[in-house]
Amino acid sequence: MTRLVLAVARATEERILEPLLERGHDILARLGPLDDIAEIVTRTHPEALLADGDVITEDLLVHCDDEGCRVVAVCADETQRRHAAHIGLRDMVDEYAGVAQIEKVLSGPELGTDPDEASTGRVTAVWGPAGAPGRTTVATSLSVELAALGARVCLIDADIWGASVAQMLGMLDESPGFAAACRLAGQDALTYDEVERISESYPVPRGSLSVLTGLTRSARWPELTTSRVTDTIALCRRWADHVIVDTGFSLESDEEISSDVFSPRRNAATLAALRASDRILAVGRADPIGVTRYLRVHPELLEVVGGIPVHTVMNRVRSGPIGVAAPSQITSTLQRFGGIDKPTLIAHDERAADAALLEGRTIREVSPRSPVAAAIRGLARGMVPEAALPATRRERRAQAAVKENTRAWRLSGRARTSP
Ligand SMILES: Nc1ncnc2c1ncn2[C@@H]1O[C@H](COP(=O)(O)OP(=O)(O)OP(=O)(O)O)[C@@H](O)[C@H]1O
Ligand SMILES: [Mg+2]
Repeated sequence: MTRLVLAVARATEERILEPLLERGHDILARLGPLDDIAEIVTRTHPEALLADGDVITEDLLVHCDDEGCRVVAVCADETQRRHAAHIGLRDMVDEYAGVAQIEKVLSGPELGTDPDEASTGRVTAVWGPAGAPGRTTVATSLSVELAALGARVCLIDADIWGASVAQMLGMLDESPGFAAACRLAGQDALTYDEVERISESYPVPRGSLSVLTGLTRSARWPELTTSRVTDTIALCRRWADHVIVDTGFSLESDEEISSDVFSPRRNAATLAALRASDRILAVGRADPIGVTRYLRVHPELLEVVGGIPVHTVMNRVRSGPIGVAAPSQITSTLQRFGGIDKPTLIAHDERAADAALLEGRTIREVSPRSPVAAAIRGLARGMVPEAALPATRRERRAQAAVKENTRAWRLSGRARTSP
């Protein structure tokens, strides 16, 4: 039995009302087009709201989430279905759906494999200070690289200030998958099947890459609370070999901004994602401003994440703003002023980066010989156990030579022993 509020067209209501009552559901209110749905949800505390696709707004969805009310859209056509998906609502039924079908959606998805039995993946957060140092470029390229090594990868866009993974990967469907996953996590209804359904698949030659896209409007940040983000990442970690999280830049904890301890936290998603990680790639821009900014916030990052290992990545290394021997100058500056050892340096390659943006694909795919692709390949290979790595071309050639020599040696031995 579910305690329901109905906000559907009259014809739909007439069709489903009696069967719903017969099956023991409690109908708390039946709303018309002029009623304030949010207000009635607050007043009646339903378990679920069944509403026409065109009356559900983003604000109503957030309100229902806060009230712990599941929302199911009744969609009359493709436009309504697209609208629901666009605002991150995945629970929908057709206008002519029977009560059994509605009940199936109301009761939530069937649980997939027992999470405890599944493997545990590694979570890597890609963070960087303000100034577009290249977080998304690194996160997307790294994900594709890991998938190319045969891994099952889940890429999450948790940048509440300016999500851009979907656009960078040329994904046309702009529905915010991460917010949808977080909402389900908040209702204890996030499962492997749901992640599979909500995520967008990005084509890769080996392995797999599923993307939970980011918020389409940064004003929706209150949906990404600490517990939801933590729970979603925890489930994705069990579902995939690698979870890569593109985070926002700000490390400011909102307690410092507001004294209201119960108000939502603007940077909750960033902080929760960083703290849920096994390792952090901290990306800085390799020019005087970028390096100074990075060095200033690096201690703050270390403090925020406790003992989680942080690896520094300096992106867009070029001699223009630094002068000659830019790589060694950057390395020694980081060591001298931040005690930072062995950073990964990624060269500046504007042509490759622009071509990738133009095609909506990663640098690795549009320009495999770019030094950017090589550096990120190195990062990815360092994240995969040696035994799981496919052989490089040189190793394959060496293996083939050994095989050929062995064959020749055997043949010559046979020739010697044959009568
Ligand atoms: N190694 C590189 N060489 C040249 N251009 C690069 C390189 N890396 C990133 N870029 C370019 O820099 C710009 C910013 O990159 P990106 O969006 O990845 O940064 P970000 O840190 O995610 O920024 P935001 O603050 O918008 O989230 C993009 O135009 C990208 O193509
Ligand atoms: Mg970004």
